[in-house]
Amino acid sequence: MFCWESDWRLPAHNLLVASKDVHVWRASLKQPSMTVHNLAQTLSKTESAKADSFYFKADQRRFIVGRGILRQLLSFYLDIEPQQLMFRYSSNGKPYLDGEFDASKLRFNLSHSNELALYAFTAGREVGVDLEYLRSLPDMENIAARFFSERENTDLRALPEHDRLLAFFTCWTRKEAFLKATGEGLSYPLKHFDVSLTPGEPPKLLHVKEDPQAPARWSLRDLKPAPQYVGTVVAEGKDWHITRFQWHRSRIRAANS
Ligand SMILES: CC(C)(COP(=O)(O)OP(=O)(O)OC[C@H]1O[C@@H](n2cnc3c(N)ncnc32)[C@H](O)[C@@H]1OP(=O)(O)O)[C@@H](O)C(=O)NCCC(=O)NCCS
Repeated sequence: MFCWESDWRLPAHNLLVASKDVHVWRASLKQPSMTVHNLAQTLSKTESAKADSFYFKADQRRFIVGRGILRQLLSFYLDIEPQQLMFRYSSNGKPYLDGEFDASKLRFNLSHSNELALYAFTAGREVGVDLEYLRSLPDMENIAARFFSERENTDLRALPEHDRLLAFFTCWTRKEAFLKATGEGLSYPLKHFDVSLTPGEPPKLLHVKEDPQAPARWSLRDLKPAPQYVGTVVAEGKDWHITRFQWHRSRIRAANS
């Protein structure tokens, strides 16, 4: 049975994240128009241009809110105005803090699916997060055959029919969160590494073809942030623990406040 975690809380202002912590925030991308407007004011010119490039208004709103909340959360940690933040991107698109904030050890990653976003923050270790909305997938077997490794396909097929969809999305988020933690994204072949997917088995990186030490270097935790949503957070090392937070618009820090 799918049980989501309900202990996501609104924290105090101006947070600190230690290297043993991974803070995971959830936020709804459905926000009142005034909140969308206020968040839009905090985006950079490049981000606003990206928002304008979406054909559908809903996609535009999701991008503005997703990025806007990322800026809000980073501004809590760094105690600066959200519009002051600058980002740089790795060659495969992973965002990092730029400018004077690059020196901070703060690391972050984000993911959005349907109307929910997840954000992960830690210090001094790489982190990746992925979220998927559980939906029916008539072509699930073909997608698994195309993107999952041989071992993952074998494990998936061994499951009773009614467990497969959840196992599929669990596997998907574990794979993507790992590739987002390393920053490689889809430049690394999805078939070249295995993750666990069998219900009841701990979330694990089992084998990475080009990097046999990887399973000892990274650890994975499952996230069930809301009904119908599954996620995974991956961070370097084994010695970290998660705290779950909920973003709320009452905490908004408007541009030039
Ligand atoms: C990064 C990637 C791996 C995930 O993208 P996604 O699942 O579509 O989107 P998510 O919402 O989870 O993540 C998007 C965020 O990841 C971040 N991101 C982009 N490239 C990244 C990278 N290389 N490493 C880490 N984070 C990255 C960005 O901040 C982005 O947020 P933005 O849109 O606000 O800029 C992407 O390369 C991708 O294209 N995925 C396609 C999905 C797929 O085919 N999966 C196969 C099944 S296993």
